[in-house]
Amino acid sequence: MSFPAIRMRRMRRDAFSRALMREHTLLASDLIMVAFVIEGEGQREAVPSMPGVDRLSIDELLKLGGECVRLGIPALALFPSPGADVKSLDASEAWNPDNLMHRATRALKARYPELGLIGDVALDPYTTHGQDGLIDDTGYVMNEPTVEALIRMSLAQAEAGMDFVAPSDMMDGRIGAIREALEDAGHIHTRILAYSAKYASAFYGPFRDAVGSSANLGKGNKHTYQMDVGNSNEALHEIELDIAEGADAVMVKPGLPYLDIVRRVKDSFGVPTFVYQVSGEYAMLKAASQNGWLDERAVVLESLTSMKRAGADAILTYYAIDAARWLRGE
Ligand code: PBG
Repeated sequence: MSFPAIRMRRMRRDAFSRALMREHTLLASDLIMVAFVIEGEGQREAVPSMPGVDRLSIDELLKLGGECVRLGIPALALFPSPGADVKSLDASEAWNPDNLMHRATRALKARYPELGLIGDVALDPYTTHGQDGLIDDTGYVMNEPTVEALIRMSLAQAEAGMDFVAPSDMMDGRIGAIREALEDAGHIHTRILAYSAKYASAFYGPFRDAVGSSANLGKGNKHTYQMDVGNSNEALHEIELDIAEGADAVMVKPGLPYLDIVRRVKDSFGVPTFVYQVSGEYAMLKAASQNGWLDERAVVLESLTSMKRAGADAILTYYAIDAARWLRGE
């Protein structure tokens, strides 16, 4: 016996029973805000391909940090957008103890010690060519020399008080190398969020505008280190290695087009699994909303809830503050 005794619509009839059977609910505590940092004071610089997202000087960043704390957003991921004057072939600004990123970290930690900070570890904001690593004469990104640079960068971030270092570079062996260096230096509490399954995605375009690497990257691409869009098993292989090397949390990136990967990762390993709703996803949702084609609040909350349903424990998103406000009915 099935229909009419079984009526799926019975439980959907009223709000109370829909609430009781709801499997996944998005919370502010699932979200990680993302911010771009620039030099100066009182500076907010619009990112043209990301309407509503501004690059912030440190004093403005502190206001954003305060808003995260007020809304119950547990952490903030920082990306520097340094001036062209500090970019170089060896990216040494990345481990300058007084660079923009480290000053931002110290200022935020002094004001809001409870707000978790996640530092991007990759060389692209600091290289003259916009690649995530150090290149040889042919332009190929060299693995081991890059890992050495990433170790210096991670140690400098940990020294400045970063809670999570987040290598987004996709070099081989970097998680283990960074973990060992952090342990040796006594930074035993510094967590590693590994961008483990990071695809060579065209959805990163607006981000590269925001950190000022797109012009330098030009027609270059990142296919020799980021993953091929057509692959899924390879993501599990990457994740397995990063867990074995000491990652505290792993990440899949981008988000919405890759939720099949999030689900496979969560089912296979059950470790803290983060997902990144990247700049191009933000730009799509924002552009369609600004045109009046989509209801922004509804599609953003639906996208983020879908990420949670797919298995994500936390979501990096440029919409974190908006979403947390909407969840409270503000
Ligand atoms: C760079 C980095 C990128 C993003 C985060 N870290 C871009 C890239 O790999 O080219 C993309 C984030 C986004 O698009 O929102 N290591």
